[in-house]
Parts: sequence; C-alpha cells; structure tokens
Amino acid sequence: MSSFTALRAHRSAYSRPLLLGFLAPSTLHHRQYHATPSSSKPKYILNQKQREFLDSALRVNQAGELAATLIYTAQTPQVVRSHPHLRPLMKHMYDQEAGHLSTFNQMIAKHRVRPTAMYPVWEVAATFLGWSTGVMGREAAMACTEAVETEIGTHYNDQVREILSWEADAESRGEELDEELQDMLATFRRIRDEELEHLDHAVENDAKEARPYDPLVNVIRLGCQTAIKISERV
Ligand SMILES: [Fe+2]
Ligand SMILES: [Fe+2]
Repeated sequence: MSSFTALRAHRSAYSRPLLLGFLAPSTLHHRQYHATPSSSKPKYILNQKQREFLDSALRVNQAGELAATLIYTAQTPQVVRSHPHLRPLMKHMYDQEAGHLSTFNQMIAKHRVRPTAMYPVWEVAATFLGWSTGVMGREAAMACTEAVETEIGTHYNDQVREILSWEADAESRGEELDEELQDMLATFRRIRDEELEHLDHAVENDAKEARPYDPLVNVIRLGCQTAIKISERV
C-alpha cells in the first residue's frame, strides 16, 4: 500500500498569545541557529529562504504534534473501553506525541517562531477527528493513525531531505552546519521514525479492516495536507 512506502504529513495548529506572536518578528531572521562551536570548519550561513523554511517547518511541526495529542486524547477512552488490551499501545503513542509537542514548543519559543493562527480551528478539527474515529471503532481509529502518520512521515522526511541538501552544499564549500541545525536534523529524523512506528502499529492493529477504508483514509489525508499547507503560511 502506498501508505507504507510513501511518507506524508499532516498538520494543525496552536496559538494563544496569537496577536503578540504575530507582532514578534521571528528571530530566525537574526539568528543563524548557531550554538557552541564544535570544530574549526566555517559555519554554513543560512540565506533568507532557508530561514523562512525552518520558520515554517517549526510552526507546522508544532501544530501537527498538538493535533496528534488531541486526536489520541479524544480517541483513547473509546478505543480502550471495548479493547482494553490496546491501552498500553494507545498510551505509548500518546506519550510519544506529547514528547514531540514538548520538543517543538521549546523550539518555537527558542526561535520565536509564531504559532499558527489556525490553532483554534485545528484544535476542534483534531478533537473531532479523534472522537469520530474512536466512535467508529478500533479499526477506524487505527486507519486514522495510518492516514495521519503517512502524511506526517512524508512531511518530516521532506524536511530532513531539505536540510541534508544544505549539508551537502556546506560540505561542497568546505563548511559545516552549525551544531544547533545538526541537532535539529537529528530531532526531525528521530521523530519521523517514531511517527512511522505509529503507522506500523496501526497497520498491525487492523487499520486496513476499517470500513469504509478508502474514503476514510483519503479524507483524513486530504485534511492533513490542507492543514499543513495552511499552517505553513498562516
Ligand atoms: Fe508526533
Ligand atoms: Fe504520531
């Protein structure tokens, strides 16, 4: 199935100090993601477009992780009521999402990236998605995870690929990425792998048995793609 090979991404939002967030200029434009010097090689300086890429990547990632925690929060009680043996798995996935959210909350605060303005909308949408697929049953809940993680996995993978291209560019100039950007790359890779682990768990737990499978998965994936596109800008 394409969802296994294709890694995609979903997305959503956050924002309370919204107006203030909009007023605060992103320091990505002033900072170079530099941390402590690690070697004698000159550091690769990001251009404006690259800084904007990171700015929007962090905004989307933070929003998506928030949505993921809300989906599991709404889904878990219904799923484990009829399938108590899934409690540890649901908790494991929720705990990882909460860890991802905490990571991106710290990153957007550190780099003063404004959260998406769409947070209230994504909050309702993610909760509804979790609740409704939970009501539909275990298979639908797992199909939801499969769909979301297919989109998310691809999204993180695209980000990893982009930063790797910067690394290659840096090497061709005899430079290197600064340590903070290297750490960010490692974080994106780790989280991508954890999302794909969730995708595997979902398929192992009969996501493909959901009925109606195709319309359900397709509409969720489309919703994720739309949310990502909007959150990248808004
Ligand atoms: Fe996550
Ligand atoms: Fe996930």
